Amino acid sequence: MSGEIFIDIQRAEKSRIDEVDLQNLSFGKEFTDHMFVADYVDGKWQNFRIEPLRAIPTHPGNLAWHYGQSIFEGMKATKNPQGEVLLFRPDMHIKRFNTSARRMCMPEFPEEVFLKALKVLVELEKHWIPNDKDAALYIRPLMIAWDPHLGVKPSQSYKFFIMTLPVGPYYNKPLNILVQTQYIRAVEGGVGFAKTAGNYAASLYPTQLAQQQGFDQVLWMEPKDFRFVQEVGTMNIFFVFKDRILTPRLTGAILPGITRDSIIHILRDWGHDVREEKVDILDLVRAYERGDFVECFGSGTAAVIANVQKLRYRDIDMFFPPDQWQLSLKLKDYLTQLKRGEVDDKYHWTVKTTGALNQLVHANDA
Ligand code: COI
Repeated sequence: MSGEIFIDIQRAEKSRIDEVDLQNLSFGKEFTDHMFVADYVDGKWQNFRIEPLRAIPTHPGNLAWHYGQSIFEGMKATKNPQGEVLLFRPDMHIKRFNTSARRMCMPEFPEEVFLKALKVLVELEKHWIPNDKDAALYIRPLMIAWDPHLGVKPSQSYKFFIMTLPVGPYYNKPLNILVQTQYIRAVEGGVGFAKTAGNYAASLYPTQLAQQQGFDQVLWMEPKDFRFVQEVGTMNIFFVFKDRILTPRLTGAILPGITRDSIIHILRDWGHDVREEKVDILDLVRAYERGDFVECFGSGTAAVIANVQKLRYRDIDMFFPPDQWQLSLKLKDYLTQLKRGEVDDKYHWTVKTTGALNQLVHANDA
């Protein structure tokens, strides 16, 4: 897409911010005042606008409800010590969104408009960004089919939204994780790498069963023999050995996490031997028994870095007490500082939103 991008802004009459305790946030409940919306009609994205967040009437025959053409992203915005707003790796999130779109037979959203929409919306909502270092403004882009039609085929029309939410930590305690040996999240050749609604729906029942046994989450495995590790569903997973760090390689059945990618970069930069490979759960058990497997943590935009305190595989429990969480805590601190502009952004991962709203107002006035 070339030329000026026009985004119409209709402001909310009254902000809801006074109703929300920004010092005491959970994850996913509080939305800011506005959302970005675009329509895909007649083969192109159009009507770029920001409007007050509201419920939207949909036809019960909408293809998204029936056959699952629905994709999303999750990214975060924070403020640096100067009060400027920073987006973390928005280019990667935009690319991943469009990868999900292609797999689900949905139209890609133009990258340039996507980035501009993010900057303008977040700049408009920046007073919602919480200050706490474990909190952030979570950004949720979403695309859904819009045709009321019950044929199993790609929709011709779509809606694209960006919502923003002030959030606290997704997990506020260390996790007990059950290695799943009955149900499967995704297979190679399927849609495991796409951020599509069905992947999350499929995870709910097995996760609920694990929760009834006192676990927080499940660790998904490759279907054959349930031997090789995939991911947690809400996050990717890392295993810290005394001399190396392992994380499952991206097979197409695993979400290519942007926090995962950042961690691999940082750890290698710090001189660690990080290996992306097929991780055999039996090797993990043996390494644990030898005392070589010392730390386990999950990574994700929402989860950031979440420590695992217990990992159960069949009848074997592996425990990782807090005094062993050395690398994960150091990493979490560094990643948080990087996102908040408190250390040099040596990887050029943050993008400022400064001025985005003013530029747009001038462009719209012209
Ligand atoms: C994210 O990390 O942004 C996700 O979308 C995961 C979801 C469980 C909240």
